[in-house]
Amino acid sequence: MFQENTSTPDVSTADIDPRFVFEFEAYDDLDAGQRWSTWLDVEPLSRGPEPRPDWVVTSQGAVDTDLGILKTGKEADVFLLDRTDPHDPAQSVVMAAKRYRSPDHRSFHRSAAYTEGRSMKRSRDERAIKRKSTFGREVAAGEWAISEWSALNRCWSLGLPVPYPVQIDGTEILMEWISVDGPDGTDTAPRLAQTRPEPALLASYFDQLREAMRTLVRSGLVHGDLSPYNILAAGDRLVVIDLPQLVDLVGNVQGFDFLLRDCTNVCTWFQRRGLEVDPQDLFGDLMAEAF
Ligand SMILES: Nc1ncnc2c1ncn2[C@@H]1O[C@H](COP(=O)(O)OP(=O)(O)OP(=O)(O)O)[C@@H](O)[C@H]1O
Ligand SMILES: [Mg+2]
Repeated sequence: MFQENTSTPDVSTADIDPRFVFEFEAYDDLDAGQRWSTWLDVEPLSRGPEPRPDWVVTSQGAVDTDLGILKTGKEADVFLLDRTDPHDPAQSVVMAAKRYRSPDHRSFHRSAAYTEGRSMKRSRDERAIKRKSTFGREVAAGEWAISEWSALNRCWSLGLPVPYPVQIDGTEILMEWISVDGPDGTDTAPRLAQTRPEPALLASYFDQLREAMRTLVRSGLVHGDLSPYNILAAGDRLVVIDLPQLVDLVGNVQGFDFLLRDCTNVCTWFQRRGLEVDPQDLFGDLMAEAF
């Protein structure tokens, strides 16, 4: 441990060789709702995949400012978080921070059907979850965060339209904020469910989604909770979110049921908006990709 030296040295900088004198600026104290950027606190594997988009702020002097809650979900809350280096305004970005709650504060529990077949490496953690100790509850929230983190990384690396995963720290995931330019500045992109695209855009949205589902299936994966509520409409581009339950198509005995359900949820919405699509056709198309 280093001892902090609180005594003031009895020398003026004029007596010191100029090579050892540094110019420095004091950083201001942080306000409520602020913290130092956690970018350098987390280990390299907890940071997103390379190549890293150039908007990711990596500066040591950056400050995180909570901009408020975006959405309260069933098991996590999503906040907007600004990360800016006050001494380098070029290093500034707004991200989405998804914070998982411990199961006590959840209104919904993901079915164990999703996690079936997944192994938990640390048996102490597994025992703690079974005992439902406080530690266990935190581990469970952290496990979902880790699941979503790995899913985002995997999907991003497959080239799928998902938010870029910036970092994970315990139960908090920082990711790209999916936004649209509105009349009063930048807004959070709406969920697909809230939109009424004109026919050409509607058809393009469906093509994008089918392509994303094909890519997943080719890698043996199924979203598992795909619906117009977990898809954001960023202008003419769709972005898929909410991935902690990403399902192994073959390893999970219900893998194909999840796939069919995803197809049905997606097609039902497109049908209601006037596009002639059929869940069985989509399912068949995807099955052809699987084998
Ligand atoms: N990266 C993002 N960019 C913009 N908005 C986002 C992002 N991630 C999440 N959101 C918003 O927050 C909402 C909740 O996120 P998400 O679906 O991942 O969490 P959830 O806990 O599963 O919520 P729910 O219970 O509503 O499904 C989304 O519907 C979306 O409106
Ligand atoms: Mg959701």
